[in-house]
Amino acid sequence: MYTQVKFCKIVGKREIAKNQVELLLENETLAKEAQPGQFVHINIGSDKHILRRPISICDAYDNITRIVFEIKGDGTEILSKKSVGEIIDLLGPLGTGFTVKKDAKAVVLGGGLGSFPLLYLAKNLTNPKVFLGFRDKEMVCMEEDFASCGPTVIATDNGTYGYNGFAINAAKEAMEDCDIIYACGPTPMLKAVKMIAQEKGIKAEISMEQRMGCGIGACLVCVCKTKSGYDKVCQKGPVFDASEVEFE
Ligand SMILES: Cc1cc2nc3c(=O)[nH]c(=O)nc-3n(C[C@H](O)[C@H](O)[C@H](O)COP(=O)(O)OP(=O)(O)OC[C@H]3O[C@@H](n4cnc5c(N)ncnc54)[C@H](O)[C@@H]3O)c2cc1C
Ligand code: FES
Repeated sequence: MYTQVKFCKIVGKREIAKNQVELLLENETLAKEAQPGQFVHINIGSDKHILRRPISICDAYDNITRIVFEIKGDGTEILSKKSVGEIIDLLGPLGTGFTVKKDAKAVVLGGGLGSFPLLYLAKNLTNPKVFLGFRDKEMVCMEEDFASCGPTVIATDNGTYGYNGFAINAAKEAMEDCDIIYACGPTPMLKAVKMIAQEKGIKAEISMEQRMGCGIGACLVCVCKTKSGYDKVCQKGPVFDASEVEFE
């Protein structure tokens, strides 16, 4: 695990959908170490907000790590105001990511913010079937990125773009005929993935996005219930085998 602070220069920034910001961070070591499903813990550089904010690694190549985040509260708002050329500090890459089964028949399922960590994974799989859900058309992003990895279905909750309804419903048939499901998104979606995987005897890996404090295993803020007791999502996860997680 790498816990040393890394300094990254922001070398790209754009709004890729409503309230969703992409930053390209330059740091060769970070980009080389990053594994699909891991995250970085970012110091947003405000005296009033001392806790770092966890953001997933969306992609990594050459000396660049790409992150995408939705502006939710003060922390992400401040981060969204950073400019190209500024230096930010972060811890990472942190946590345990996905098991990359390159040639498996894979379904990649993302809901909202949960779509962002899945791109780097999808890029490392051979022709995965991708299903991504967003609230509405204004939130849809990264369709072309995912489509370059494998067949991609976009779903919107209100039917304003693509499949009308939840991504998990669009993915139902594909999930019943695959070797592994990789998922990240809202808890009800992850619960449903666990149930389907259990019923069909399919392996599933789910990424749990708990609230975090330290990000490095010291504070216990992030624990989730698993078969073996309570595990720290920042270390044992954020990716877990679905069969391990005990949803409350
Ligand atoms: C491992 C991990 C990876 C993540 N990756 C991404 C990512 O790639 N892109 C992205 O946009 N977000 C991601 N998140 C969520 C992100 O960390 C939070 O949205 C962010 O910390 C909110 O900070 P804030 O100061 O803007 O909002 P706050 O003022 O702290 O909170 C505003 C709202 O966001 C909600 N929120 C806060 N923390 C979380 C959380 N951990 N998960 C879900 N909702 C939260 C709060 O309940 C509240 O409603 C990730 C979270 C974790 C744990
Ligand atoms: S966030 Fe502190 S132990 Fe996980």
